Amino acid sequence: MTTLQQIPESLQWNGETLNILDQTKLPLEIVYIEATSLQDVREAIVKLQVRGAPAIGLAAAYGLYLGVRDIETDKIEEFREQSRRFADELISARPTAVNLAWAVEKLLQLSSDAQSVAEAKFIIMEEAIKLHLADEATCKEIGENALTLLHDGAAVLTHCNAGSIATSRYGTALAPLHLAKEKGWEISAFATETRPVFQGARLTSWELKQSGIPVTLLTDNMVGYLLQNKKVDAIIVGADRITANGDTANKIGTLQLAILANYYQIPFYVAAPLSTIDISIETGKEIVIEQRDRSEVTNIGDLQIAPDGIDVLNPAFDVTPNELITAIITENGIVTSNYRETFLRWGNEE
Ligand code: MRU
Repeated sequence: MTTLQQIPESLQWNGETLNILDQTKLPLEIVYIEATSLQDVREAIVKLQVRGAPAIGLAAAYGLYLGVRDIETDKIEEFREQSRRFADELISARPTAVNLAWAVEKLLQLSSDAQSVAEAKFIIMEEAIKLHLADEATCKEIGENALTLLHDGAAVLTHCNAGSIATSRYGTALAPLHLAKEKGWEISAFATETRPVFQGARLTSWELKQSGIPVTLLTDNMVGYLLQNKKVDAIIVGADRITANGDTANKIGTLQLAILANYYQIPFYVAAPLSTIDISIETGKEIVIEQRDRSEVTNIGDLQIAPDGIDVLNPAFDVTPNELITAIITENGIVTSNYRETFLRWGNEE
């Protein structure tokens, strides 16, 4: 029995338009936005209405199709130039999560041999749907691999939301929890609230509660206390970009979790699909970190909590160095060292 029935899908493609679950309204309201154009999809990505690396990749794939669908030329070269501009427009929406660029580049590449504009449009639509369908199977494989590192009764700490709604289904870091529940294991979770926009409080705690998985919410500054005083068997987080050497960008606050995990000798796992691995970048130092609007820090929703004009830092992600990561869990398997070698081999096998 799946525990995921209570969780709405992040994205629904109806053949003409993309329905996007508005994650900014969760957990209070379950509302879908109807995206009819590339600009609608881009805006939803920028505003975090759709978020989580795999989900924004899938949304962008449909966004590209919604853009190219309306290109009026029948000259293939003109079509390609315009498609390139559309792809760049989508990629600029959020620079850190590589899945976005990965998805739109893949669609452009797969349509590059098309002989006509109509054929190219069809390939882009068909491949966007295929990516969406494949993501669920990928997440399930990640979950099954991750489950081999856990046991019945395990307590897992996670950060941000790398769950079903951050993907097509199951999630990455949360996939083993959903699968453990399906198996009838007594698994439980701790979720950090994840300032500044509370993906842990609003999304992860809600998603796990919906699935009947016991979850305890804590603020980000309680993790030291938690690891010192309570039984936590593993920390599992998602990823937005993993470089060739295994350095991992994930939601801001992940690095401090990894440092604490190292101090308290608790396994620190990163769960992510191969589409999050960017072997074109050697180390995390080269990852562009998205800086977001100051209002996310000075305000909680509409409520201002800081003085007018205060200087603010708001990086959306940080980079955890590979030496703090116990293992990276993918659909292909689990890697604990020699990341570059394994990632290159997997890249060549594709
Ligand atoms: O800014 P967000 O909410 O898109 O950040 C999301 C995260 O950092 C997730 O942990 C990451 O994308 C992995 S999603 C499966």
